[in-house]
Amino acid sequence: MPQSAVNSMNTFEIAPSGKAVGAEIRGIDLSQPVPEDVRKAIHQAWLNHLVLLFRGQSLTPRQYLDGARIFGEPQVGAARKYYEKAGVTSIANSLDTPEVTILSNLDEDGNPTERNSGLGSLEVVWHSDNSYIDQPPAGSCLYSIEVPAESGNTSFNNQYMAYDTLPDDLRTAIQGKKSIQDSTRNSAGVLRPGVSLPRRPSEVPGPHHPLVRVHPETGRKALYLGRRRDYPSQYIVGMDEDESEALLDRLWEHATQDKFKWTHKWKAGDLLVWDNRCAMHYRDPVDPTQRRVMYRTQFQGETPIPG
Ligand code: SIN
Repeated sequence: MPQSAVNSMNTFEIAPSGKAVGAEIRGIDLSQPVPEDVRKAIHQAWLNHLVLLFRGQSLTPRQYLDGARIFGEPQVGAARKYYEKAGVTSIANSLDTPEVTILSNLDEDGNPTERNSGLGSLEVVWHSDNSYIDQPPAGSCLYSIEVPAESGNTSFNNQYMAYDTLPDDLRTAIQGKKSIQDSTRNSAGVLRPGVSLPRRPSEVPGPHHPLVRVHPETGRKALYLGRRRDYPSQYIVGMDEDESEALLDRLWEHATQDKFKWTHKWKAGDLLVWDNRCAMHYRDPVDPTQRRVMYRTQFQGETPIPG
């Protein structure tokens, strides 16, 4: 078959999940070249559906990276520097493509475990990736090499919808407000190597990001909550503890409603890509007796534009 017939506008299909977020892209083999018109159509589908799924892929790290470039410029993961600074070697950083991290529940001997130096098999709370840096990644991509039969499902939600359906008083209360995003813990709540837990607001390392951001490609407004932590690890700048906690409780309850959500059950060979500027994600705990191994990449983002 000529290469153009493998991945073309004739083979390309979009199958929406039927939920608030997500679509499957069919008829595309990312191990083969993807022509420019198809790349553009896939990128547009991503902007429309926030999360895309490609099933049945069989990719080397470099083919995976080439597919990831449809969505943005792959960058080295923000967590990597903590491990390097603390001198911690990890299976996560073992590939010779630094933009590709291995996300796994394996220990250093390659056996499944509940806790390792990353997310392990733990539940991962709702969050938007790397909200604790000044320019959080625009999107992220996961490609499953090995997955358990059950467990470790990943859910996504639509934060455009969350913003559009905010009660008026809540919308007014957060107008022009920012929240601090603590960088000391990962998304499973585990303290990163070499850092200590902040006890008061002045000790919290991390940027102030707008609670409402404008998506630079679609121009739409989305809620941008980052990740929830106990005070003072997330608070609304300029509010006292009680006021900030009460508002954050309401915002998080609104943003994480089931009606904004779609859940993906993994099979080996699935590639998922999501948009951190308008979607959050959550992972169920993984069965710690079974291996779960994935390639993970994030795309260069920008300083969030306040909405
Ligand atoms: C994450 O990026 O939060 C992990 C998602 C997953 O392991 O499914």
